[in-house]
Amino acid sequence: PLSRRSVLAGLTALAAPSLIRARAAWAAEGRPFVQPPLSEGQALDGKRVFDLSVAPGAHEFRAGVETRTIGINAPFLGPILAARAGETLRMDVANGLAEPMTLHWHGLHLPAAADGGPHQSIAPGAVWQPEFNLAQKAGTFWFHGHQHERTGAHVWAGMAGVIRVADDEEDALPLPRSHGEDDFTLILQDRRFDADGQMPYELNMHDRMAGMQGDVMLVNGQVGPVLELDAPLIRLRILNGANGSFYGLSFSDELTFHQIASDGGLLAAPVAMRGAILSPGERGEYLVDLSDGAAVMLRAETFGAEVTMMGITGTHDVLEIRPRRARAAPPLPDRLAELPAPPKATGAARDFELAMTGMGMMGDFTINGRRYDHGRIDFSVPLGATETWTWTNRTPMLHPIHIHDVQFRILSRNGQPPAAHEAGLKDTVLIRPEETVALGMSFQDYADPELPYMYHCHILEHEDAGMMGQFTVV
Ligand code: C2O
Ligand code: CU
Ligand code: CU
Repeated sequence: PLSRRSVLAGLTALAAPSLIRARAAWAAEGRPFVQPPLSEGQALDGKRVFDLSVAPGAHEFRAGVETRTIGINAPFLGPILAARAGETLRMDVANGLAEPMTLHWHGLHLPAAADGGPHQSIAPGAVWQPEFNLAQKAGTFWFHGHQHERTGAHVWAGMAGVIRVADDEEDALPLPRSHGEDDFTLILQDRRFDADGQMPYELNMHDRMAGMQGDVMLVNGQVGPVLELDAPLIRLRILNGANGSFYGLSFSDELTFHQIASDGGLLAAPVAMRGAILSPGERGEYLVDLSDGAAVMLRAETFGAEVTMMGITGTHDVLEIRPRRARAAPPLPDRLAELPAPPKATGAARDFELAMTGMGMMGDFTINGRRYDHGRIDFSVPLGATETWTWTNRTPMLHPIHIHDVQFRILSRNGQPPAAHEAGLKDTVLIRPEETVALGMSFQDYADPELPYMYHCHILEHEDAGMMGQFTVV
């Protein structure tokens, strides 16, 4: 028989979420869609300098409820940094937290000392000033916290932003690129709020195994905003900035849209699709035709690493897009970028096996049988080498594998060539259970005998639990 006490406890637990819903609506519901501010930095001695100050903040996700967060020049998330390929950037990163942190430039090719990984920790109150050449194709990159064993907590609290890179090749194409008019940046994340409207980073057993997920879908920190616009053809730069959620994106009425870029830049040609999957850390740029003037809803189905066991965890309306009128859209270009053939290996072929032990216990996630060790360099790559890294997933979970320093090409997925939307430049790739994915990449320009780059699962709880390794380029 149940005691009165346990029955009451059960009732309270059930009542709590609906109580909050009754008390406060989402602050942005039905309100205009907001993007993080676009920052072009400051010109200084031929460099583009960005000031980034990381500090605790409070953000209103629900009307009238202040949620404690961490932000970058803002209470939650950071600015969109706009720069051009070939420029020299200097990032002035100030740590306003009471604990060490880092900021990592995800997807950028740069010296290990400027990477912002776990070895570039910034002490509380200190400023870190990496300087590097922006050697990228035009595309959508991002930055986020990467402190050893604190990555999940820092990103969950809001420590992330987007880097938007332009170049001549992309400029020459008839694509939407007016920020806020026909070109929009969407940082997608999901969060879980407690009864006080806070989002504590407290992992239960399931979160440790499958990654931290929430039931509330955010776009740029907002729930349910509306984007009204005039443009007949728009470009959405979408980042999956979640800790542990995969997003299956689609539009209402099974609208067909086109992907034009993957993580590292433009695809060879637009790829028509009705649904797109973005893993944690991945970006995609998509064109959406609104010429008929009808409103469309961007939807996300969320699922976790355990998709094979648990299935879809939620279906969310993310953003309502309302054209003000019907208007003819310009035709899409047939070709976008010249993608060179995937690189032929001149150097080592390396094999990586993803495994996990201790199901149902504290997750032990390994790569080639080893957990991350901050003091161990797993291997070295000779500068200038082109290598093939073959990943096999021996776990029952999904893992998005990310490699620092390079943009790679997917050579094969289970022996088959990659699908068109995966055939471009990538820095993060989804590897399903029992899949084998071969990646080709070249290590150019920067060598450092001591400071490593990381490779890891971008489910941040897997990364923090040891599914990460480090290599040097020498
Ligand atoms: Cu997006 Cu090692 O990180
Ligand atoms: Cu990275
Ligand atoms: Cu993983």
